[in-house]
Amino acid sequence: MKGDGFMSIPKSQNITWHERTISTADLEQLHNHRGTTIWFTGLSASGKSTLANGVAAELHKQGISTIVLDGDNIRHGLNKDLGFSPQDRTENIRRIGEVAKLFTSAAVINLTAFISPYRSDRQLARDLQPDKFIEVFCDTSLDTCEERDPKGIYKKARSGEIKEFTGIDAPYEAPENPELRLDTGEMTIDECISKIIGYLGDRGII
Ligand SMILES: Nc1ncnc2c1ncn2[C@@H]1O[C@H](COP(=O)(O)OP(=O)(O)OP(=O)(O)O)[C@@H](O)[C@H]1O
Ligand SMILES: [Mg+2]
Repeated sequence: MKGDGFMSIPKSQNITWHERTISTADLEQLHNHRGTTIWFTGLSASGKSTLANGVAAELHKQGISTIVLDGDNIRHGLNKDLGFSPQDRTENIRRIGEVAKLFTSAAVINLTAFISPYRSDRQLARDLQPDKFIEVFCDTSLDTCEERDPKGIYKKARSGEIKEFTGIDAPYEAPENPELRLDTGEMTIDECISKIIGYLGDRGII
């Protein structure tokens, strides 16, 4: 089942929250920018990793601390026990959402690049830090993504070598109200990066 709070209740009972001495606000003051999550979502090859890294590079030039959390990389470590079933995809996103929140609380601008195909999963990630969650929808047609196919995985999905591939034989639920929607089939990479940087300025995050 989707969005049912899978694994949301702690198993332990004798646990107590210990308030941090140095707060997020203290760290934001130190760094002179605010922590936030920039959550990219979209089909494979829609440009999530390209834009997350492009924005991080631009912010880095401006002296801003960033980290990119990227799909396959996280599956090499933290999430290597997870596959691509709906339940595993949900748990994948839940963990990423928690990690993103940790980075936000360390006043780091964190950029996540996961297909994150289910609306309910993205909502859970947003609910963890509603004021610090910027959803960027890489809104790119399946045709364009398939034409790009930088990893050759659409070819494998079409031939049946890869199963449960988003857009082919697994669903992608587009965001209804993303903070930013970028048609990466129409806009250049630089235009997309500028739009995101501009938005961060408008929101007073940088
Ligand atoms: N405006 C644009 N924004 C982002 N990428 C673009 C744009 N125009 C063209 N591209 C190209 O599209 C490709 C996007 O690939 P990328 O690996 O970033 O996708 P992804 O969404 O991270 O896919 P995956 O989910 O498989 O990791 C790159 O080759 C990039 O150069
Ligand atoms: Mg990627």
